[in-house]
Formats: sequence, structure tokens, C-alpha cells
Amino acid sequence: MITIKWLLPDLEATAAAGAKLSKTLEPGCIVMMEGDLGSGKTTLCKNICASLGVPINLVTSPTYTMVNMYSYDLGVIHHLDLYRLEDQKELEDFDFEDLIAVDGITLVEWPKLLRPLIDTQRVLNININYVSDGSRELIMSSHDSLYERLMN
Ligand SMILES: Nc1ncnc2c1ncn2[C@@H]1O[C@H](COP(=O)(O)OP(=O)(O)OP(=O)(O)O)[C@@H](O)[C@H]1O
Ligand SMILES: [Mg+2]
Repeated sequence: MITIKWLLPDLEATAAAGAKLSKTLEPGCIVMMEGDLGSGKTTLCKNICASLGVPINLVTSPTYTMVNMYSYDLGVIHHLDLYRLEDQKELEDFDFEDLIAVDGITLVEWPKLLRPLIDTQRVLNININYVSDGSRELIMSSHDSLYERLMN
């Protein structure tokens, strides 16, 4: 189990964090993002996508669509926001491949109801917390050694 903490004092630091994460993510990776409303999950996703070559303005919050999909050089990115999901049964309306990018990268905001369906392998857990005005703290943890690269 690895645990890594980064302090993000401002939006530039969040952009740099997105860039660093994007270099580590490989097809098959799933990033589960927890954190209070407005803590910066979508902002971090936007920066990850932008660093993978997706025009940042195309990346919007999937609050209503539940899943947004983007293409990048190595495949697809699925960006999920499951905040509005009321129970796990609603996930059965989706094909698993429409939620999880089996050969791509999956970024999930509010992942609680999805977690039981996912093998922890390849999962990076991120908690985004408010520290003080504007600052955020990212606490990342994973059972997958792939993410050890984030420590350098
Ligand atoms: N260091 C920072 N990192 C990320 N966002 C920041 C930072 N400082 C300020 N912000 C602002 O905080 C807000 C974060 O909103 P965002 O939509 O990313 O949150 P969220 O966690 O996705 O919310 P929700 O739970 O509603 O999905 C944005 O307006 C962003 O500009
Ligand atoms: Mg969001």
C-alpha cells in the first residue's frame, strides 16, 4: 500500500498535479476521487485530460450525463460523476464497458457505489480536502505499485 500527499496551494499547483498524474496513468487505470462538494475533483480531471491532449474547454463536469468520454493518443478517457446516483441498481442500466474504459483511463468522482464492482488492482484513490482558502490537499493511496512513480 502506498500513500502520497501533495499540497496544492493554488490552481497552478492543481494543473501541475494533473500533469504529473497524466504521465503515470496507463490504459486500465481507474482513479477514484473523493472529497467535499467543490473541493476540486472536476478541476483535477480537467487538468489530467488537458495534459493527455484533450482541449481543456471540452472537459465539463459529468454531473448530469454521469459519463463523459474523450479520446486521447492511447485510447479513451471516461470521466464519471456518480453524485446523483441513488443506488447501485442504477449502475445496471449501463454496460460495464460504458462506465469503465477497459482499455483506457477512467476518472470517477463520487465513486462510492461503483467501488464494490471494481477490483482494487490498478485503482488510485484520491481524497481532495480543503486546507485553507484556496489550498487543497491531495491524499493518494493505492495497492498498485504502478503509482510509486508519483513519489518521484
Ligand atoms: N487549488 C485548487 N485546486 C482545485 N480547485 C481550486 C483550487 N483553488 C480554487 N479552486 C476552485 O474550486 C472549485 C472546484 O470546483 P470543482 O468543480 O473542480 O469541484 P468538484 O470537487 O468537482 O465539485 P463537485 O463535488 O460538485 O463535483 C473551482 O471553482 C476551482 O476554480
Ligand atoms: Mg465535480
